[in-house]
Amino acid sequence: MKEISIYREEFLTYLESKLTRKEPANLYDPMRYILKLGGKRLRPILVMMSADAFGTDSQKALDAALAVEIFHNFSLVHDDIMDDAPLRRGKKTVHEKWDINTGILSGDAMLINAYQLFESYEGDQFRKLAKLFTKTAIEVCEGQQYDIDFETREDVTLAEYLHMIKYKTAVLVGAALEMGAIVANANEVCTQQINEYGCLLGVAFQLQDDYLDAFGDAETFGKQIGGDIIENKKTFLYLKALEESSSVEARQLQHLYTIAPENPEQKIETVKQLFIDSGAASLAKAEIEKYTQKAFNVLEDMNISEAKKKPFKEFGELLMTRSV
Ligand code: IPE
Ligand code: IPE
Ligand code: MG
Ligand code: MG
Ligand code: MG
Repeated sequence: MKEISIYREEFLTYLESKLTRKEPANLYDPMRYILKLGGKRLRPILVMMSADAFGTDSQKALDAALAVEIFHNFSLVHDDIMDDAPLRRGKKTVHEKWDINTGILSGDAMLINAYQLFESYEGDQFRKLAKLFTKTAIEVCEGQQYDIDFETREDVTLAEYLHMIKYKTAVLVGAALEMGAIVANANEVCTQQINEYGCLLGVAFQLQDDYLDAFGDAETFGKQIGGDIIENKKTFLYLKALEESSSVEARQLQHLYTIAPENPEQKIETVKQLFIDSGAASLAKAEIEKYTQKAFNVLEDMNISEAKKKPFKEFGELLMTRSV
C-alpha cells in the first residue's frame, strides 16, 4: 500500500494529462478552471486506495477515480448556483466568474464526461461501475433536493437531516471505495462492506463540513464562512441548538432562520453564539466522532489483513482533524 500523498500525486499527474484546451471555450474553460482549482481529491484517492487494497494496480483505477472527481466537481458547480455561493477553494465560483447559464451547461458536460470514462472498462466491470454510478448520482440529486427543501421547512427532524446528508454526500464516498473494489474484482461481501465504511465516514465528513461552515477559518476553508447560516440550512448545529435551547432562545433562532438581512454579519454572529451556548457545537464534534467510530467498526469486521486496513483507518483519522 502507498502513502495517501502518493495516490494524490498519481491522480494529479493523470488529471493534468487529460485537461487539454478545447472549443467551445465557454463550455470547457469552466471545467478546467474548477478541476484545476485544487481541492483535497479525497474521492479519487479512495478509489485508488481501495483498488490497491483489494489487490490490483491502482493505475487501473485511474479512469474510475477521474470519473468520481469530475462528478464531484460537477455537483459543486451546480451546488454553488443552488447555494448562491461566491467562493470555492478560495476562488470565485464558476457562476460568479462566468454566469449561471455557463455553470449549468459546463456542469452538465462534466456529468456526461464522468459517465464516458467508464467506457475504459470491459464487460462485467463496466456494467457494475455504470450501475453503481447511476444509482449514486440519482441519490445525490435526491439529497440535494432535500437540502434545498429544508431551507424553507420549519419541521425538519434530525433523522431527516441525516438521511439528506447521507444522500447528498456520503453515498459518493461509499461508491468511490466500492468502485476501487470492483476494479480489483473483490468479492461481493468486501465490496458492500467497503461501501458501508465509506458511507459512514461520508456522514462524519458532511457533519464536519457543516461545523466548519460556521466555525472554520475563512483562509483555509476556502468557502464563505456562515454560508449555511445565510441560506438557513437546517444542519445538525441548528437542529441540535433548537432542541437544547430554552424556549426564548429557540424562538430567537427560529426567527433568525426566517430572515434574509442585507448585511448578514450580525445574524451569523448571533446564530454562532447560540450554537455554542446551547452546546450544539460540542455535540456536533461528538457526532462526528461517533460516525467515524461506526465506520471503523465496519472496517474492523472486514476479512482483510490489518496491513490493508491501516490506510483506511489513517484516512478516517485524517478527516476528523481536518480544517480544510
Ligand atoms: C465539498 O467536498 C462538498 C461536500 C460534500 C461537503 P470537499 O470538501 O471534498 O471539496 P474539495 O474537492 O476538497 O474542494
Ligand atoms: C454539498 O453540500 C453536497 C454536494 C455538492 C452534492 P454543501 O452545499 O454543504 O457543500 P459545500 O459546503 O458548498 O462544499
Ligand atoms: Mg449545498
Ligand atoms: Mg454548498
Ligand atoms: Mg457545506
